[in-house]
Amino acid sequence: MTQHSIDTSVYNVFEIDIEGVDLKERQFLSIEDNAIIIVEVQGKVYAIGDICSHDDGRLEDGLIDDHCIVCPRHGAEFDIRTGEAKSMPAVVGIPTYPIEVIGSTLYIGIKK
Ligand code: FES
Repeated sequence: MTQHSIDTSVYNVFEIDIEGVDLKERQFLSIEDNAIIIVEVQGKVYAIGDICSHDDGRLEDGLIDDHCIVCPRHGAEFDIRTGEAKSMPAVVGIPTYPIEVIGSTLYIGIKK
């Protein structure tokens, strides 16, 4: 029986076993051609796209300032809660993905 609350009418939900994985450390996933960063900020886990909307650089190990990740290439900032571009040179946001951690399973939704 499904335990997560991700809307399966909108998302394909993927289950990932995270037994032994420390989510306090940034994790990188690739699901159906989506490069994704899993990052914990202030005790909450988020999933965001790993490709900057400015010039396709990887956000990868970009600094996190409050709830914004800073692109290592040219310094654009994105809100990890919404994907919204918060500073130039980016004007378009990045994807965010619904995510839930239940026990040692991570559920992540990719839009259908
Ligand atoms: S590639 Fe990210 S700010 Fe330019």
